[in-house]
Amino acid sequence: MFASAKEILAKAKAEKYAVGAFNVSNMEIAQGVVMAAVEKRSPLILQITESAMKYAGDKELAKIVRTVIDERSEDVPVGINLDHGKTLDLVKKAIDLGFSSVMIDGSRLTFQENKNLTKSVVDYSRQKNIPVQAELGIVPYLGELNTDQTDWSTLMTDPDKAKDFVDYTGVDFLAVAIGNAHGFFREAEVFDWARLKTINEKLGIPLVLHGASDCSVDKISKSIENGVACFNVDTDIRLAFMGQLTKMVDSKVSITDPRKIMEAVREAVKKKVVEKINIFGSSHKA
Ligand code: G3H
Ligand code: ZN
Repeated sequence: MFASAKEILAKAKAEKYAVGAFNVSNMEIAQGVVMAAVEKRSPLILQITESAMKYAGDKELAKIVRTVIDERSEDVPVGINLDHGKTLDLVKKAIDLGFSSVMIDGSRLTFQENKNLTKSVVDYSRQKNIPVQAELGIVPYLGELNTDQTDWSTLMTDPDKAKDFVDYTGVDFLAVAIGNAHGFFREAEVFDWARLKTINEKLGIPLVLHGASDCSVDKISKSIENGVACFNVDTDIRLAFMGQLTKMVDSKVSITDPRKIMEAVREAVKKKVVEKINIFGSSHKA
């Protein structure tokens, strides 16, 4: 059932579990994720980046994802989020394409620029009844910083600034930086739990943790205790997809039907999402 991230995340936060937001760039990933949602009766979010839109065609990908939800999700709530949107124009496009939430990522701008951009997106999205996620602090990517000497203290979300940011912009969800990192950038061994607790107490809105692929079970549960209602997962899905694809291609059996390969790949994606759902505690929350 196509649903709003607003309700999905509000329920998760209130009942102290989290949902996954899984990046999608093709039909098989979308189907694998939704099949896991149905099997586990877990609400979740499918999310699309600008580069995924460029790869698959924005309208094509949006239609594929929406159709997969409509055809397969039964009564399990599933949203479509714009992930890491960088401009108001892209947000407008995503809303026109039928997404049920958007993220505006001004995290690499100055604090004031991020505030202004986020406010303009919230003002626009409110009229369309679409909730907005913003990001404050830096959740680094591999290649962006010197990984040998990461000074996490310079990257983390400042709780007072976060309060000011949320009050000013009226944003619905906030992505925070507490030692987490994207993809293969090695995250901090210990997250700054005191900081997360303070942010949660000051803001009260659902928090989002990006770069959740490699988070330990312990980090996941402590994050949930402190207000995280959504974990963004991309790399682990890519690894599951590519791992199975490579295995199939490398096998001695000659396969001439791509469906034989992609069926197994889709199953591997589903299995990985089921694992994540079990860790996030969102089974049977539909
Ligand atoms: O926005 C997407 C994510 O933050 C994914 O991060 O690739 O480390 O799972 P990940
Ligand atoms: Zn992210």
